[in-house]
Amino acid sequence: MTTPVWQYHEPDHPGADFDAMAEIYDRNMQKYRDVQGEIDEVLNFLDLRPDQSILEIGTGTGEFALAAARHCHKVYAVDLSAGMLRYAEKKAGARGIANVELLPGGFLTYRHEGEPLDGIVSQIALHHLPDFWKQIALLRMAGMLAEGGKLCLRDVVYSFDPAEHEKFLDDIISKAAEKAGPQFANSISEHVKKEYSTMDWIMRGMIERAGFEIQQVKKSHGFFALYLCTKTSKKEF
Ligand SMILES: C[S@@+](CC[C@H](N)C(=O)[O-])C[C@H]1O[C@@H](n2cnc3c(N)ncnc32)[C@H](O)[C@@H]1O
Repeated sequence: MTTPVWQYHEPDHPGADFDAMAEIYDRNMQKYRDVQGEIDEVLNFLDLRPDQSILEIGTGTGEFALAAARHCHKVYAVDLSAGMLRYAEKKAGARGIANVELLPGGFLTYRHEGEPLDGIVSQIALHHLPDFWKQIALLRMAGMLAEGGKLCLRDVVYSFDPAEHEKFLDDIISKAAEKAGPQFANSISEHVKKEYSTMDWIMRGMIERAGFEIQQVKKSHGFFALYLCTKTSKKEF
C-alpha cells in the first residue's frame, strides 16, 4: 500500500535519535523512572488472561512488552527505530521470552493482520505526533481493538496552568537538574521546546472522540498522564 503524499512522515519526528541510544536509554529509564511500578499499574488494569493478545506501539527497549508477555498469549511490539527493536530482541533472547513479536512500524503505518486485539499500550511515544495525527493514531488503535478492548496510554501531557507556564517549567527543570543532573534537565527543556506534548483536556477529548471511555486518569507532576480506557462503539466529531 502506498503512503499518501500528505501523510505525516513519522521518522521525521523531532526529539532524540533513538536508533543511536538504545542501551543508554534503557539504563537511564531504570535510573529516572519507577519502571516496575509503571508496568504493574498497566498490567493491573489490563488484567490479562493467558489466551489474550496485546499490541504495544513505541515499545522502545521492550521493557513493558517483555513483562506483559509472561501474562498473555502474545505481545506485538512495534517501534519505528530499528536500533530500539534490535536491543529489545536481545533482551527477549536473554530472558528466554518467545511470545513477543518485535515489528517495525509506527502509529500511522502499522497494520495489524491478526485477530482483533484485547489491549493496546503506548507509553511516552504519542507526543512524537502533532495533534491531528494523534487523533488519527487513536482512531487506528480503536480500529485494531476487539469490542471492550482496553487502551493504556501514558505520555508527557501537560496539566499545569498555561498562564503560569514560565514559573512551572523553570521549577520542573531545576528540580530535574537537582534530582537527576544537567543532562536529564536538558532533555526536559528540549522536549518542551521541540516535541508535541499537548494539554490534558485536549488529550481526553481526542481519546473520547476516537471511541474510548476513560475509566481513570492518573496525572503526575502536572507533566505526565496515564489514561486507562475501554473501547466503546461511540465515535463523535
Ligand atoms: C521515549 S521512547 C519510549 C519507549 C518506551 N515506550 C518507554 O516507555 O520507555 C519513544 C519511542 O517511540 C518511538 N516512536 C517515535 N515515534 C513513533 C511513531 N510515530 N510510531 C511508533 N513509535 C514511535 C521511538 O522510536 C522510541 O522508541
